[in-house]
Amino acid sequence: MYKNVLLVGASGDVGKSLLPDLLADPDFQVTILSRTDSSVNFASNINVIRVNYSDKLALIKALTGQDIVISTVGGEALMKNFDKTLIEASLEAGVKWFLPSEYGFDLDDPAASSTPINIPLLENIELLKQNQSRMAYTFISTGAFLDWGLDNGFLGFDISNRAVTLYDDGKHLVSGTLLKNLGKAVVAILHHPELTLNQRICLADTTFTQEEVLNLLKKYTDSKWTVKHITTEEVLKQAQEDWEKDNWMDAYIAFVLAYAYNGKGMCNFEKKTSNKALGLESIKLEQVVKEAVQPKEITA
Ligand SMILES: NC(=O)c1ccc[n+]([C@@H]2O[C@H](COP(=O)([O-])OP(=O)(O)OC[C@H]3O[C@@H](n4cnc5c(N)ncnc54)[C@H](OP(=O)(O)O)[C@@H]3O)[C@@H](O)[C@H]2O)c1
Repeated sequence: MYKNVLLVGASGDVGKSLLPDLLADPDFQVTILSRTDSSVNFASNINVIRVNYSDKLALIKALTGQDIVISTVGGEALMKNFDKTLIEASLEAGVKWFLPSEYGFDLDDPAASSTPINIPLLENIELLKQNQSRMAYTFISTGAFLDWGLDNGFLGFDISNRAVTLYDDGKHLVSGTLLKNLGKAVVAILHHPELTLNQRICLADTTFTQEEVLNLLKKYTDSKWTVKHITTEEVLKQAQEDWEKDNWMDAYIAFVLAYAYNGKGMCNFEKKTSNKALGLESIKLEQVVKEAVQPKEITA
């Protein structure tokens, strides 16, 4: 029933991690949707449709015949809420199932509505719920991408310089998913519509505190670490000030970190994950940290 899958934003961090698992699954016929002005090239054996996203009719034409649309758009697309355009065009094109670009917080948590960066996402959720008799939806919450965030320092750990910023002393629990495992999880979601249609699916490979990560990093780097402390309340205040000054990117990062590390329900959803129901294996934090300290291969 759900055969044709359109992946939007396949050249991004999330899209790149989903693509190989989708392509490897013989049950799906995968096509990529990309912007005409995107500089990214894909392998010649992959179906790619390039569209000028401001041409609504061209967008609807590209979406026609697709059963499932998975959005993984990021960057400027989040700021402009491109997903709203994509949802409206998907409804007109007769798409059956839409997965918006979330992959983070549990936006059903009451705190979500008081965070300005979530407003467009909440509008999309409302739009999809209102139209669920025409097109089903699945919202995916992943918590923090642990491998991605340890590699690039986003989670506060600077592995090369053995330095860390601990939020609220690193004591709070945070749900996390490995970006490299997300493709398998999304494929499992698509294979289980009886569990996932018109649902929010919370995924977490592990739930951790920054303090636990730091102790493991000390062990596997065999080094002393420099520790800086900050409270999530301070970070939230800074986020609000940046938001009021239109410093969108700084505000965005600060809001994400404050809500990731404050221990509350938006990013601590250990008890409501669907990993087991979807047959996804659990992962030991120790293994994740061990891999994070390994020297990385440089790819062209
Ligand atoms: N939980 C976490 O720790 C975490 C971390 C990172 C991201 N995320 C979430 O994951 C999602 C994807 O993020 P990402 O970092 O993978 O995104 P990204 O790499 O910044 O961008 C993904 C793709 O979006 C498309 N795109 C860029 N600008 C666009 C625009 N103006 N209009 C339409 N499409 C545009 C591009 O695809 P084409 O060039 O092919 O058009 C791009 O490759 C977001 O919702 C983000 O919030 C979560």
